[in-house]
Amino acid sequence: MATHGLLLVLIFSSVGWSVSYQRPPAREILSVPLSDDADGLTPQQVHISLVGSDKMRVTWITEDDAPSTVDYGTSSGSYSHTASGSTSSYSYLLYDSGRIHDVIIGPLNPNSIYYYRCGSNPTREFSFKTPPAQLPIKLAVIGDLGQTGWTNSTLQHLTESNYDTLLLPGDLSYADFYQPLWDSFGRLVEPLASTRPWMVTQGNHEIEKIPILEPSSFKAYNARWRMPYDMSSSDSNLYYSFDVAGGAVHVLMLGSYTDFDSGSAQYKWLVGDLAKVNRKKTPWLLALVHAPWYNSNDDHQGEGEDMRKSMEDLLYKAKVDVVFAGHVHAYERFDRVYNNKKDGCGPVYITIGDGGNREGLATEYLDPQPVISLFREASFGHGQFSVVNATHAQWSWHRNDDDEQVIADQIWLTSLVSQSAACG
Ligand SMILES: *[C@@H]1O[C@H](CO)[C@@H](O)[C@H](O)[C@H]1NC(C)=O
Ligand SMILES: *[C@@H]1O[C@H](CO)[C@@H](O)[C@H](O)[C@H]1NC(C)=O
Ligand SMILES: [Fe+2]
Repeated sequence: MATHGLLLVLIFSSVGWSVSYQRPPAREILSVPLSDDADGLTPQQVHISLVGSDKMRVTWITEDDAPSTVDYGTSSGSYSHTASGSTSSYSYLLYDSGRIHDVIIGPLNPNSIYYYRCGSNPTREFSFKTPPAQLPIKLAVIGDLGQTGWTNSTLQHLTESNYDTLLLPGDLSYADFYQPLWDSFGRLVEPLASTRPWMVTQGNHEIEKIPILEPSSFKAYNARWRMPYDMSSSDSNLYYSFDVAGGAVHVLMLGSYTDFDSGSAQYKWLVGDLAKVNRKKTPWLLALVHAPWYNSNDDHQGEGEDMRKSMEDLLYKAKVDVVFAGHVHAYERFDRVYNNKKDGCGPVYITIGDGGNREGLATEYLDPQPVISLFREASFGHGQFSVVNATHAQWSWHRNDDDEQVIADQIWLTSLVSQSAACG
């Protein structure tokens, strides 16, 4: 029986996709313009992110000077509270950004809908739902998003999932030095990113460093996608951690493109952050990186290896449950792994770099498939991690079959701390 099952899995994973699903060609870049009735004061590219357990950062851009204030409340059109924040901007080559507004609002009640407007601008009202303060919680996971017709298809599917918080393991806009594409990306994701918190970490496409002309890395990324790094005692927007579900889930957002060796600031921060996690209160521990530590795709082979060698022991000893990565434009799920071998007390490794960017899919794989690689497929799609309770979570990968979403991989995971007899 077991042999038959294995055989079926092998047949399905090696030829199944080419028979069952013919991949359509790449789709064009979507450049999302400002709406016709917008003016220099219209808030655009609105997105929100978590700040601590009960606050939210609201980020948006205006072409002209406008107040950095957010009016908010629990019923539409009536704003009982106002908060103010700050404005910044940046230049990149010949490009000047708009005014980037950053306002933290709260305290907010969990699992509640808030209505808000930015800069007291009456033309656009937004709303979001705060995540629940306990389990269950549904996390959406998507990497290497870009801005093509496929991205749009992925975003439609994400909308239908009604997730609580989104995790993005790097490579957002694929602006690739051309800054107006950051603005276009902001407009493309606004319908989702203004309604649920988006928590991101950086990919290689965020670096955008040009020798002599633009010597500092992550200029646009850090200006536009500020994350709550200071809340977790990090001094860099490139790595931080946060809690959701009242601390039942702790998420490490690691930086693949900043120093990670054992003498680095990131490494020291990670050691300190893990020491603060109380696994009695936090049954689920997740990590995100951009370049995968385990990868059986031909693309980007070995690129995560230095970081794995530096940090894998820390994550293993801390009993991290799942490590999500992007970078490779395909989906792959590994077994629980430590040091290249199956290990029941190691994290599950998942590559979800298949959001829909313009570089297309990574279709070539190492042959034979390593035994620790349980499922791999080069299709666009997104993932959902539904943490049901302290012991059980369900992971599903939703493939874009043209514009339909199909669950192509689904498993139940048991938290490592609930297996303390086995994992000590
Ligand atoms: C994204 O897809 C939706 C639904 O198919 C469509 O209405 C919308 O216009 C698309 N967005 C863009 C920017 O093309
Ligand atoms: C946790 O959820 C799983 C899956 O739904 C269920 O089988 C299990 O009984 C739940 N555990 C508790 C303690 O409720
Ligand atoms: Fe990448």
